[in-house]
Amino acid sequence: MHQEKIEAIKSAISAAEAGNEEELEAYRMKFISKKSVVGELFAEMRNIPNEQKKEYGQLVNEVKQMADAKFQELIDQVNLAKKHTKSFDQDLTLPPTNIAAGGIHPLTATRQRIIEIFERIGFNLSEGPEIEDDWHNFTALNFPENHPAREMQDTFFLEKNPDVALRTHTSSVQVRVMENQKPPIRTLSPGRVYRNEAISARAHCIFHQVEGLYVDENVGFADLKNTLYHFAKEMFGKETKVRFRPSFFPFTEPSAEIDISCLICGGKGCNVCKGSGWVEIGGSGMVDPNVLENCGIDSKKYTGFAFGMGIERIAMLKYQIKDLRLFTENDVRFLRQFKPML
Ligand code: PHE
Repeated sequence: MHQEKIEAIKSAISAAEAGNEEELEAYRMKFISKKSVVGELFAEMRNIPNEQKKEYGQLVNEVKQMADAKFQELIDQVNLAKKHTKSFDQDLTLPPTNIAAGGIHPLTATRQRIIEIFERIGFNLSEGPEIEDDWHNFTALNFPENHPAREMQDTFFLEKNPDVALRTHTSSVQVRVMENQKPPIRTLSPGRVYRNEAISARAHCIFHQVEGLYVDENVGFADLKNTLYHFAKEMFGKETKVRFRPSFFPFTEPSAEIDISCLICGGKGCNVCKGSGWVEIGGSGMVDPNVLENCGIDSKKYTGFAFGMGIERIAMLKYQIKDLRLFTENDVRFLRQFKPML
């Protein structure tokens, strides 16, 4: 009979819950205090025959220990809950603190967009070192020794070894690719280049270019033009026009400067295009047969075109940025404006 009663109390203790002070007090009254069910079990002792007292006492003590342990558990629970509610005990109508989310740098976004456009028409990506030797930056590209063309670009040479320099253009990657691959070659090489120039709004000693190279049988100037028409429309919009202006580079023949119609005035003439309606984005031409031969490609069988464009230039036109220095100053007020690119 006692057995059953004790078992019932035990399961009531295990099932007990308390979410606040009142419920805790209710538990205390029910299982801990003198007048509780457990207290009553102790009072019952005097009605138990002597020979059963020992056994009964043990059972009741077990119940008492269980009730106490549970009580402590519930106290801890209620205290913990109190601590948590405390942090919400504040003014919930206050505006939240801002979480600063990073954006994509405009040069990264521009490079990414250029890569996307050319990847879709079958160009792969290639890279070369920024510290280059004379062969890859000049000689293989048909700049004769002591030719004034080498002075077209002011170069950072290594003082102790003039055979080593910081590359002045990504055309050095063309050479590396052609030396290591057989045509057909269709590759795009974005990267950083260095020129010993005074830093101003329009020039920097560090900037980025993207080189394109296509070598195969029967590649003609029309392929170059169509590729760049496609690029300009994808990058700057359908209305964009492209113009090729005869130019000179030692590694291309014929050579042409690439202009696009001014995005600001649509070709009418404004201060960005200095009234001409056109802005330059890079150089291009048919790969000079000497360059193909220097790289071990049969110039009787293969022809190719190449182009090199300034990534800063393209980003400046696309976002109407007037000062090149902003790209490297890391002023968050400038960088923050490019978040929507995400
Ligand atoms: N490398 C040239 C420059 O830096 C650009 C160019 C690349 C021209 C490829 C023709 C062909 O000015």
